[in-house]
Order: sequence, then C-alpha cells, then structure tokens
Amino acid sequence: MDYSISSDLLDQLACDCLILGFYSKRKLTPRAADFDQHCQGLITRILKRDGVEGKAGDTLLINQIADAKIERVLLVGLGKREELTGTIYRKALTAAIQSLKGSGARNAVSALHEAEVKERDLGWKIRQTVEVFEHTLYKFTKLKKKSDDKPLRLSAVQLLTDEGEQQVQEAEIGLRQGRAIAKGMIQVRELANLPGNICTPSYLAEQAEKLGKLHKKLKVKILDEADLEKLGMGAFLSVAKGSRQPAKLIVLEYQGASDKVKPIVLIGKGVTFDAGGISLKPAANMDEMKYDMCGGASVLSTVALAAELELPLNVVGLVPASENLPDGNANKPGDIITSMAGLTIEILNTDAEGRLLLCDTLAYAARYEPTVVIDVATLTGACIVALGRHPSGLMSNDDELAARIIRAGERACDPVWRLPIWDDYQEQLKSNFADLANIGGPDGGAITAACFLSRFSKDYKWAHVDIAGTAWKTGNDKGATGRPVPLLAQYLIDQVW
Ligand code: BES
Ligand code: MN
Ligand code: ZN
Repeated sequence: MDYSISSDLLDQLACDCLILGFYSKRKLTPRAADFDQHCQGLITRILKRDGVEGKAGDTLLINQIADAKIERVLLVGLGKREELTGTIYRKALTAAIQSLKGSGARNAVSALHEAEVKERDLGWKIRQTVEVFEHTLYKFTKLKKKSDDKPLRLSAVQLLTDEGEQQVQEAEIGLRQGRAIAKGMIQVRELANLPGNICTPSYLAEQAEKLGKLHKKLKVKILDEADLEKLGMGAFLSVAKGSRQPAKLIVLEYQGASDKVKPIVLIGKGVTFDAGGISLKPAANMDEMKYDMCGGASVLSTVALAAELELPLNVVGLVPASENLPDGNANKPGDIITSMAGLTIEILNTDAEGRLLLCDTLAYAARYEPTVVIDVATLTGACIVALGRHPSGLMSNDDELAARIIRAGERACDPVWRLPIWDDYQEQLKSNFADLANIGGPDGGAITAACFLSRFSKDYKWAHVDIAGTAWKTGNDKGATGRPVPLLAQYLIDQVW
C-alpha cells in the first residue's frame, strides 16, 4: 500500500473514498461536519436514518455521493469524544480498513486522525494508521495455491493534514516510522508462519544475510557449529545435537553511530521447532511450536528497521537458531553440560531449551560491552498462565531499563508487565550435581526462567521479555502477531528521536 500525506482542501479532493470520524450521539468531527455541509446534510441524515450511533468501531459506508469528486464516504465511529484512548482509536482504525477493504475503492483519503486521542500526538496517530491498516490487511498466502480472498483493490491511502510545516513534518515522521514498523511486523509474521520444515535455522540465517545485503551499514555474520564449539557454547550446542539441522548463531551488526559508541544488543530466541526433545511435548497444538523462533525473527526485523530508519545508534542482533527434537543424540534428563560462561547445568527437562541457547548467547554478548542487552523469547508457558496473552512478561536487573521498556510498550501499544526476579527464587534452581538446574519446578516458571538467565547477564544492564503469550495467536485466527517489533522499535526510537 502506498501511504502519503496530503494537505488538500476538502473541495479540491478527488478520491474513491473519504474516511471521516464521528463520535457518540452522531457528533461529527470538524471535517465530517464540513463535508456534511458540503453535501446538504447528507451525512447527518443517513446516520440518523440507519441508526448508527457512533460507538467505537461502528462504520457506515455511503456508496455514492451525487455531484462530488468524492465517490464514497466511510464514516467511522470513535465512541465518546472525551474517552477516546489509543486503544479505542486502534479499534476504529481496524473497523475502517475492514470496511474499506470490501468497498471496491482503489484509493482513499483519511481524516480520522483529526480526532483528539488522549495523550497521543499527530505523529502517533499517523503511525498507528499505517500499522493497523497493514496489520489488518496482512494474510499468509505464500503456501496456498489459491488464495480464498479476492485480490485487494485498494492501493493508495492519503492522510489528510492541515497545512503548516510543523503538522506536515510531524505527520511525515509518523508515516516513516509507521511504514518501517509495519514492514518489520509483516516480515516477522511471514517468517514465523512458515512451518518448521521450511523455516529451519539455515533458512533464518539466509533471511538475515538477505537483510544484510539491503543495507550498507548492516553487517551479517553466521557462526556455524564449529565456531560455537570453539567458543565453548556447550549449552547451545547440547540442544542442537538432537537435530539433523545444523544450528546457527546469527549476528547482525548495525552501525549507525561512531564506532566508539557502545551498542544496544538485542537477542532473540530462534528455535525453529520445539518438540520438547526427550521431554517430549504432548501432541495437541504442538504445531504451534514452529513459532518458537518469533523472538529471533523480531530481532532480525528490528535491526533491519534501525538500518532503514537510519537511527544514529549502534545495534547488535544475536539470534541463536536451532531445533529442539528427540533423537538418539539429544539431551537426556540428568545430562550435565558446560556453558560458555563456565557454569555447569543439569538438564532436568529437555523442553527448557530456550534458556540453554540464550545463556551462551548472553555470555557472547558481553564482548560488545553493551550499554544494555534485551532478550526476547517465547520462553515459558508459565508466562501465559501468569499474565494471559495481552502483555509480554518483563524481567530485568535494572529498574531504569525496565521503566524505559514499559514506557516504550505503552507508546507502541505493545505492552509489557514486569515480574520480580528476586534472589529468593534462585533457590529453586539448585542442583545436587551441577552449578544450577535448567528448571525451577512448577512455581513461578516465567520468573525462574528469567532467574536462570540472570546468572549469565550479570556484567551489564539486562532485560528479558517473555513473549510466549503475545508473539502469536492461537485458535481460529492462529498466526504470528509481529510482536514485539513495535516495542523494540519504540525502545530504539526513544533513544534518539
Ligand atoms: N517454547 C516453550 C515455551 C512455550 C510454551 C511458549 C507454550 C508458548 C507456549 C519452551 O521452550 C518450553 O517448552 N518451556 C517449558 C519450560 C518448562 C519445561 C520448565 C514450558 O513452558 O512448559
Ligand atoms: Mn521447550
Ligand atoms: Zn521453546
């Protein structure tokens, strides 16, 4: 879709569809009121005739307008004016694009963002328009011979703003960020929706290399198993040895600032299929474990997005990629391995594999002397039990970093909720035979997983985001969500914009 900013006046507009907002009790937004006047009260009349109240997400499509260069008008309910929050605004945008999609319009002009949204500025509203529209229109079609939907006619959306340099500039920034974030989310969804037999660790590595070719300031290195062996990554390799697919550590280095500036390191779990290993998972919904690489895919896309937005930062992305399968050579419960950091780990459950990949990657991250390290991982089912599927779980050894991530989540509508990682929990990771065990028992599973990671991230400010409940949707609309790309992108943007 082509998005652009326009500051045309209403009577100069020619388009297939004009999108206008209205509030509860059919109160019109200023531009809707203008247009209503322009066409002799048509809007007021039809809203009333059809009893459309203006609840958030109500839509009414007026399919033909007499004597106008505007072919259609799509009216979108925004709820009560005083109560218009970011979430409600997004709901209205979703309704708008759903209706527009089926309308037959080839292009549209939207003025929805003229509505005032609590605590949000114009840039945010524009950015959300692009994000929500692209997000709603996305469909996974790659592996279907025939798509069930008819092809989308709509190809261009103009966003109407007032003239005035500041307005236009703000809108342009929102547009640029929105395009980049929407694209990043779609990349993640495309990759993550691919099944494990296609999206293997090598496939992920190839995608990273492709991204590297697109941006001059983005370098991509792929470490193979021999390299990991040399580094002493015994924990990571122990997971990989149960799989016939070779493991890869994908390293992306984006240099947008001077090489004296220490980087932000992002780490993403890249398990391309998690059967649990010898501690095999039950069969029901096991297909969803193809999504166990969503963290990794999000990191690939976020680093590419930093390059695309030319953020004046140095950002490193690390994605340990492997499968976790049962095999004669796989980890067995009771096995003891030695991590890169030197700590020995007793593997009491081979299904707690994510932390094994991540602990060696966290040790590797230290060589960058990072300002902060953020890892994102579909790490625990326990996180879904604790928080449900709305926020991601956040755990951190640094309050300021945690606060920044929470704020970024709020701004980006990709929320996180913090859980404690007090020392008290470390008890649960005690092993009779090794320095620590890889599971902490049934209580507080999301937390003990993070406590495990915290043992390997003592040398820097670190945060862990458990995206088990947010990276994909289960049930009828099963599919990757593209989260936490908005969160990570916002965190980076907040450092510089
Ligand atoms: N990838 C899973 C976590 C997961 C489970 C994500 C369900 C989304 C939905 C992870 O590798 C795992 O298997 N974790 C175990 C840990 C347990 C053995 C301590 C879990 O959550 O059951
Ligand atoms: Mn697992
Ligand atoms: Zn896993």
